[in-house]
Amino acid sequence: MKTKHVAHCLVLAYPAQGHINPMIQFSKRLAHRGINITLVTTLSFWNQSKTNNNNNNDNNFLFSPNIHSESISDGYDDGGLLAAATLEIYKDTFWKVGRQTLSDLIGKLMIGNYNNNPVDCVIYDSFMPWALEVAKEFGILAAVFCTQPCAVNNIYFHVHKNLIELPLSESEYSLPGSVKLLAEELPSFLYEYGSYPGYFDIVTGQFSNVHKADWVLANTYNELEQEVIEWLSKIWPLKTIGPCIPSMYLDKRLQDDKDYGISIHNQNIDACIQWLNDKPKSSVIYVSFGSMAGPTEKQTEELAYALKNSNHYFMWVVRASEQNKLPKGKFMDTLEKGLIVTWCPQLQVLTHDAVGCFISHCGWNSTLEALCLGVPMIAMPVWSDQITNAKYVKDVWNMGLKVVVDEVDGVAKRETIVDCIKEMMESEKGNEIRENATKWKNLAKNSVDEGGSSDKNIEDFVSELAQCAA
Ligand code: UDX
Repeated sequence: MKTKHVAHCLVLAYPAQGHINPMIQFSKRLAHRGINITLVTTLSFWNQSKTNNNNNNDNNFLFSPNIHSESISDGYDDGGLLAAATLEIYKDTFWKVGRQTLSDLIGKLMIGNYNNNPVDCVIYDSFMPWALEVAKEFGILAAVFCTQPCAVNNIYFHVHKNLIELPLSESEYSLPGSVKLLAEELPSFLYEYGSYPGYFDIVTGQFSNVHKADWVLANTYNELEQEVIEWLSKIWPLKTIGPCIPSMYLDKRLQDDKDYGISIHNQNIDACIQWLNDKPKSSVIYVSFGSMAGPTEKQTEELAYALKNSNHYFMWVVRASEQNKLPKGKFMDTLEKGLIVTWCPQLQVLTHDAVGCFISHCGWNSTLEALCLGVPMIAMPVWSDQITNAKYVKDVWNMGLKVVVDEVDGVAKRETIVDCIKEMMESEKGNEIRENATKWKNLAKNSVDEGGSSDKNIEDFVSELAQCAA
């Protein structure tokens, strides 16, 4: 007798913290609905995260019997991007070797129908459009997963279509579905054209073959980006399925899913939470610039003194590789109200009662996490989509302030940062922003709750997949 076929997705994550986090969470939501998942990223990334999370077993950090992990090669199995001479070289090697090793992996999973469960669909990070070509060579479905907001996807799609001329020639841009954006509010790879050619190629190449995708899945929610989602839905088979943050923070059906995600950095969870435990409600400023970029040395110094001079409590994540930028001597010796850590359990920190605001680089995951948990933000974007995300945080979603940088040297001065902190922590405007942040939190919860916009889209995706796979 033929056994019933359970749909099986191969989920391919780009090897970076901000990319794998949402894909793991999405995988778990699919697994919760009975889909089998093979979660794949590069061998170098898996090795790094397993070392830092003390995982000896391949799957114990995935917390689901329906999820298995596999790896492909980026050509740098020992070290990943850090082992390559430049990003451009890394990308060229990865695109070639990755494509071949993904093809080998899918071939292996298809042989003998792999326990009666061949791969039905490849869900791949939009940074790696070649994965779609591999899926199609095997005649299987392909869903592109966008880890950045639709506002930003729309901009990159317009660049790909040559509808935005580069170098930028206008001072202001009006794209369909979007608010008006000044040139300097576009992602840095466009405004500072030529600054990072490797990343420029990656982000503008994301949608080169999107017309062949069976689904476009976006880590956002309808209520947050309604207009641009409506516009993109006219041209793409788009489904919003976010916010992809651990379910226990959002979805009451999955409260027992005690997962704090994986990290490629060492962290001391208990020390961070204990430090917060005895601080008054909403009294702490949490500061983090995510997993990749960091402020310059001069900017780090200005921020350091601003935090100290503000006289508020602060918890500041300065990654090990960035610690050399911190002011030396007296500053570090007199940190009465501050805690500096190299990494922290960000979601647990953001949900802690003691945290009053989040100074953030506005990476998309951090932004979504703040939106979902109702934490107001002070935006200090560094590069990439963070610039555009910060514009939306302040002017569109009204859930944050943005630190203004000096026109001459591009550095936000300590007095300016202190003013922003005081406005957020001590003024009526801060309270208004806080109320707005709570509104976005409730809308995020509704979207993933039973019958909410994202929940329904995931449900539809699963049933469409089941029909195709049957
Ligand atoms: C990158 C890009 O920089 C960003 O612009 C893009 O939108 C996504 O990819 P990253 O810079 O790492 O991401 O920022 P972000 O998207 O905010 O992701 C960081 C993740 O690390 C978040 O999920 C955050 O919760 C987590 N984190 C960060 C921790 O768990 N602990 C920390 O101490 C800092």
